[in-house]
Amino acid sequence: MSRRDIDLDQLTASVVAPVADEQERRAEVSLRPSSLSEFVGQGELVGHLAIVLGAAKARGQVADHLLFAGPPGLGKTSLASIVAAEMGSGLRITSGPVLSRPGDLAALLTDLQDGDVLFIDEIHRLSRAVEEVLYPAMEDRRLDVMIGRGPSARSIRLDLPNFTLVGATTRTGLVAAPLRDRFGFVGQLDLYDPQELTIIVTRSAQLLDVRLADQAASIIARRSRGTPRIANRLLRRVRDVAAVRGHAIVNDEVATMALDLFGVDEYGLDKIDRRILGLLCEQFASQPVGLTTLAHACGEEPSTIEDAYEPFLLREGLLIRTPRGRVATERAFAHLGLQPRGGGLV
Ligand SMILES: Nc1ncnc2c1ncn2[C@@H]1O[C@H](COP(=O)(O)OP(=O)(O)OP(=O)(O)O)[C@@H](O)[C@H]1O
Ligand SMILES: [Mg+2]
Repeated sequence: MSRRDIDLDQLTASVVAPVADEQERRAEVSLRPSSLSEFVGQGELVGHLAIVLGAAKARGQVADHLLFAGPPGLGKTSLASIVAAEMGSGLRITSGPVLSRPGDLAALLTDLQDGDVLFIDEIHRLSRAVEEVLYPAMEDRRLDVMIGRGPSARSIRLDLPNFTLVGATTRTGLVAAPLRDRFGFVGQLDLYDPQELTIIVTRSAQLLDVRLADQAASIIARRSRGTPRIANRLLRRVRDVAAVRGHAIVNDEVATMALDLFGVDEYGLDKIDRRILGLLCEQFASQPVGLTTLAHACGEEPSTIEDAYEPFLLREGLLIRTPRGRVATERAFAHLGLQPRGGGLV
């Protein structure tokens, strides 16, 4: 089979982008860990969460409101459903952009059952007006509703059932301070290390019925830029290539060949990462570059660069943030096979 038999451009476009489209989110459901014990990594966060949930259960109460923060694909939504499962409660899911008016949130809150978990994804995108409905709901489990207009308008107070609010955000800094302060627990998720990702890939391979050699699992893990979502996606892509090429077992050679085919290099960088580093190294010649300028030059949104690409490049020491902007490091030059020009290099 030739390379052209697979629509490479389409397939490589998003192969290591940490964000997922609708179709992928549906495919992910079957791979999602369903209990805290199945959740790999994030040891400290999981330990604290187990205490928070265990204590609430022992008191026969609902858990405190919880906020999970971290780059896309690290397990925030998975944790929200695990919280509901561990507490044996119902889960209602919504997101900041969906709740555009205070009435949308009020309708959702009054419809909750006692003990429910309400998950608000992208909670930093709630409007101020909606946030103001949320504050008394979180604090005192009450809802103040205005009825009527003009001079006859009056406010009535509704008592809400006991519930746990679970919020998710890509960055805690984006959540308004008064909202952040109303969470009893804030858990920060960090990028995973290759050992943890190897466990995740191995577990997913079993669930997907893929025969994967140990070495192949660790190759996929090392190229997954610290992100379980990417690890699972690369696994599915590698499985597809193996199937098309008639390999019953995915060994290290098959995995390396497939990942090379998709343009994922040994650091797990893809086209966009290489474009970011290439621009910093060449076009901007090691001068600090502002986020917006860099994003425009890459054809991406600044928030995508900041949330999805930068955390990994920073962790790998390929890029640094200075007060004057982003700069590529010596390691980035070496990785791209470029020679640094002039001074100012980090
Ligand atoms: N700790 C983990 N152990 C095993 N699998 C995980 C873990 N974390 C995430 N995953 C896998 O990665 C996928 C993506 O995770 P999830 O949807 O929870 O990420 P997210 O942080 O909510 O991402 P986003 O910010 O894009 O909403 C899940 O379907 C799951 O298969
Ligand atoms: Mg999510």
